[in-house]
Amino acid sequence: MARRNKLDKFADLDGFENVYQNFDAKNPILTGQHGQHPDLRGKWAIDHFGNDRPLTVELACGRGEYSLALGRQYPERNFLGIDVKGARIWQGARIALRERLTNVAFLRTRIEMLDAFFAPGEISEIWITFPDPFPREGKENRRLTSPHFLNLYRRVLAPGESSI
Ligand SMILES: C[S@@+](CC[C@H](N)C(=O)[O-])C[C@H]1O[C@@H](n2cnc3c(N)ncnc32)[C@H](O)[C@@H]1O
Repeated sequence: MARRNKLDKFADLDGFENVYQNFDAKNPILTGQHGQHPDLRGKWAIDHFGNDRPLTVELACGRGEYSLALGRQYPERNFLGIDVKGARIWQGARIALRERLTNVAFLRTRIEMLDAFFAPGEISEIWITFPDPFPREGKENRRLTSPHFLNLYRRVLAPGESSI
């Protein structure tokens, strides 16, 4: 494939079967392949992955290296990488398609909207690697490990699961 610029990558995402996007932080609608609007809340395993396997979510996945590596290593689980940056997700999604890693998908959204897209208890495990540190005073609430975000994760993690 010739070198793709950011706009090319955004256009590609529309055609990827393993990518869902939310374009409006006030409106929790997902856009999937070819402009479809699936409602996957509570149904990621069955409706996207076509199974009932546990779901691991990688928050702030960037290019999705961890989701891809975990997906290769644990074919008996489902993996979803989440990031707001479409051009980064493109990289991971393209590799997953190329390798036919059907247990790895990607969601482009702000993590603040997590409970709009996942039912209580739907997520078995959350990974966060190298999140933006937001070191400045006054920005603590934007850290993905802040109490605000930890409470959000509790709402979607399965009972008894605490992997963050
Ligand atoms: C430092 S990068 C780390 C990427 C990846 N985890 C890694 O280890 O290579 C942080 C990522 O977090 C994403 N991010 C930060 N805050 C976010 C938020 N509130 N919602 C979605 N993505 C976010 C950024 O877009 C960026 O890709």
